[in-house]
Amino acid sequence: MPQDFEGRVVLITGSGHGIGRATALRFAQGGATVGVNDLKPEFVEAVVREIDEAGGTAIGIVENVASREGMRRAVLGLAERAGRLDVMVNNAAWVRYQAIADVAPQTLDRMLDIGFKAVVWGIQAAAEAMHAERGGAIVNLASVAGIVSQPSSIVYSGIKAGIMGITRAAAVELGARGIRVNAVAPGAVPTEGTQRNRNVERDARRIARTPLGRLGTVDDIARIVCFLAGDDSGFLSGHTITADGGFTIANL
Ligand SMILES: NC(=O)c1ccc[n+]([C@@H]2O[C@H](COP(=O)([O-])OP(=O)(O)OC[C@H]3O[C@@H](n4cnc5c(N)ncnc54)[C@H](O)[C@@H]3O)[C@@H](O)[C@H]2O)c1
Repeated sequence: MPQDFEGRVVLITGSGHGIGRATALRFAQGGATVGVNDLKPEFVEAVVREIDEAGGTAIGIVENVASREGMRRAVLGLAERAGRLDVMVNNAAWVRYQAIADVAPQTLDRMLDIGFKAVVWGIQAAAEAMHAERGGAIVNLASVAGIVSQPSSIVYSGIKAGIMGITRAAAVELGARGIRVNAVAPGAVPTEGTQRNRNVERDARRIARTPLGRLGTVDDIARIVCFLAGDDSGFLSGHTITADGGFTIANL
């Protein structure tokens, strides 16, 4: 059974697809009121409908959270509508892999805006929205790319390593307010977003180098996000859990 999130309000950025969607469904199963955010209205509508049909509670938030203003509208708007905010999941990303010589200013800016700056804005707004005594939990999506790199990942690896630093720094600053900040660093997980960079040979190589012998699933990651957001991890803060089937600790 998912942890008990009855009465709690959760916002997940970029939850129209992939890991964010799976996380939204799991929080809803646990009884949370889930703020489903995405850029794309049709994605938001579909996830909200899925949660409604399963008997859960969801609030759709169509918003571009790459800007400080957009993030504030999403976070503070949900807190106002639902009456509180307990959990913030900084999940949304836009990713392109480019060789160093090819990195273009527009790509770098767009990746930084949603991948890095939005995490800072998300933490800032969530800390404002969370109750002064009750506190809350923030979970950021890092990546094994922040620990080990492949070619053409200078921007993505830099951003995801940065997310681990942001997680530690925010945990230090917000701990006194009862706000825990943690991250999960997934290995390769097939999603709509990763489809364009994956192929059968690359997957096979990855699987051969993974002690557990498989790629991750969106549910593998959703479970860890829920663990980091719930009372079962009440004494954990500033930590990044690497969820990669052992890929980064292996020398296979
Ligand atoms: N899938 C993987 O293999 C993997 C591995 C490691 C880390 N991650 C991280 O996990 C997170 C989720 O990855 P995914 O593969 O599920 O992604 P995805 O691309 O499948 O989904 C991301 C969602 O975010 C939304 N989004 C993008 N920009 C937005 C914006 N400005 N405002 C609101 N929504 C926006 C997209 O529309 C999309 O629905 C990302 O942070 C990613 O870097 C994924």
